[in-house]
Amino acid sequence: MTPEYFTREFMAKVAPYLSPLTKKELHDYVKEGEEAIKIRGPQGVSGEEYLALVKGIGDYLKANTGKNFTSDYQKFRLTNNITFYSFQLPGGGNLNIFDAGEDGKMVLDTGYGCFYKDCDKMLEKVGVDGFFDTRVVICTHADADHCGASGYFPMMPLMHPTCKAILDAGTRNYGSVNDLELLEKFYTTTINTMSRMNVPEKVLECGTEPIGMRGLFPILERIQFAGMEFEVWESLGGHIAGQLLLFEPNLGLLFTSDAFINFATLSKERADYCSIADSMIGSVNVDSEIARTERKELTRLAVELDAELKKNGKKLLICCGHGAVSEIDADGKLVPASELIHYAAE
Ligand SMILES: [Fe+2]
Ligand SMILES: [Fe+2]
Repeated sequence: MTPEYFTREFMAKVAPYLSPLTKKELHDYVKEGEEAIKIRGPQGVSGEEYLALVKGIGDYLKANTGKNFTSDYQKFRLTNNITFYSFQLPGGGNLNIFDAGEDGKMVLDTGYGCFYKDCDKMLEKVGVDGFFDTRVVICTHADADHCGASGYFPMMPLMHPTCKAILDAGTRNYGSVNDLELLEKFYTTTINTMSRMNVPEKVLECGTEPIGMRGLFPILERIQFAGMEFEVWESLGGHIAGQLLLFEPNLGLLFTSDAFINFATLSKERADYCSIADSMIGSVNVDSEIARTERKELTRLAVELDAELKKNGKKLLICCGHGAVSEIDADGKLVPASELIHYAAE
């Protein structure tokens, strides 16, 4: 079969981005890409547009690493010895760091593999001394922008067993029921390869037996770090199966992962990049109906938890998968909780 779209000429343009793939994997990739275009064509994405999306991922990641790497971040002094940083990376999800001084660091979602060195350097430059004293790594889900650099750390990252199964299967709709099998697989291969995903063979899997409930969300674990205690909740699987949400009740921190994305606070470049996955697959949520239920329940819980915290003079910080750390108003509207600080590598 001679490819109609993924021609030699096109493949030459994206070859550097796909270099980790073997010859056989590249052959399958081209076949699946042709299929993907056949599916997306009648849904309103032409072959040319689809190719531009694929190449666009590689171009964007390349253009935003090294000396062109930038981030916008927020910094919160949580206690006398813990400072929390949430970094919006050039593309993809936020890198969340708890810096507990002598007690080291906890990393919650790592960003893409291709940004690891840039992030390490950024931590040094903003006064957090790099990743070297990281003690705990948690990955909320199997998308490359959340776990793709976890293999660079010496300790095993904690994740849901289904998250690990998705990583092993190589397609983000594993464990879900939808009819997007091929589109999800092709997107997963594209993003994992182009973002240089690095996930270790062995990971720490969290428990799956609920030890309590928060609304519709089962609590699977309680994790301690530097005096904080995080409840680990299991999402309902609207965005992807095996996604974890974290809540720290004393400090009032809610990590929603990609169940909540604060689109209004994304820069135009980040928002445009974010939309590529939607255009390639149709939706980044493996089940849009469940995703809606999840967002509704998270909003309800956030308003409730915030009201509870306010009784003690505290407030809830909503840390979304992407976008600014925010506060929630009574109508469920997210408002950035602090100014964003800009970082540029050079
Ligand atoms: Fe994400
Ligand atoms: Fe995601």
